[in-house]
Amino acid sequence: TCTAAAQPAIERPLVIAHRGASQYLPEHTMEAYRLAIRQGADFIEPDLLLTADGIAVARHDRALALTTNIAAHPTLPSNIDQITFEQLRGLQATSRGGAAYAPLGAGPTGLLVPSFAEVLDELRALHASTGRIVGVYPEVKTIGGGLNTYNRALADAMLAELAHPRHGGLFDGSRGNVILQSFDPEVVAYLGRGSSLPVVQLSPQCPSEADTAAIAARADGVGMQAARANAECLHRLRAAGLFVHVYTLSNANPDLHALMFRNGVDGVFTNAPDTAIAQREQA
Ligand code: G3P
Ligand code: CA
Repeated sequence: TCTAAAQPAIERPLVIAHRGASQYLPEHTMEAYRLAIRQGADFIEPDLLLTADGIAVARHDRALALTTNIAAHPTLPSNIDQITFEQLRGLQATSRGGAAYAPLGAGPTGLLVPSFAEVLDELRALHASTGRIVGVYPEVKTIGGGLNTYNRALADAMLAELAHPRHGGLFDGSRGNVILQSFDPEVVAYLGRGSSLPVVQLSPQCPSEADTAAIAARADGVGMQAARANAECLHRLRAAGLFVHVYTLSNANPDLHALMFRNGVDGVFTNAPDTAIAQREQA
């Protein structure tokens, strides 16, 4: 962790495209990230998991059936950590459906599951061609608890991709355009020790007073459920030096964006960046 880069320098409060513009296009596809960028998102949020051959890819769930057409490939394994990257690229990415996500079957077919490397290449190309910096907010999705072999390998792969020489330092933290996150406290502490990038502890609840002090010792910010982000909670976390981002907003409850901005959060994870930006302008 660090203090100098802990507060992102991009426009605030941050509009963080949760799994891309996942309200409109299947989550964690390049198409959903590009739409979020076109809508004006400040950050895109890839959840990360490792394939069987150790490639960090943008996916929320270990079970491939939730957001791919794996059902059409009965000979392939059903979990992301059992499938190679090449096998994964033979699948189509799909929406999970529901009110907060792209309608099932929406958008183009043939969407692929991107690697984290491809996501970073896209942001670097955007910066090179337009000068615009869109931040990246990768989450270490864990399999099993704590700093086990899988989780550590994923964290290491994520950090190695961010530091890869081909990016020319674009993701080194000096521009406030990278924030790391995990629900797992051991992973958060590991990321804090292993990099100078800001790290967010995810928490479904508002952390207790004791937890707040412990989080402040290992992280720079908290990502918590919007429904719990009342004024008292925000005040306590801020007093401990933590910034606060809330999840997950969408067009299923568009007014929640305005409420969160009024409450003074530092950023929102939203499936609908266009709605968030419109409401931020009015706040
Ligand atoms: O990372 C913030 C938010 O995305 C946490 O929830 O389950 O969508 O990763 P989830
Ligand atoms: Ca996430």
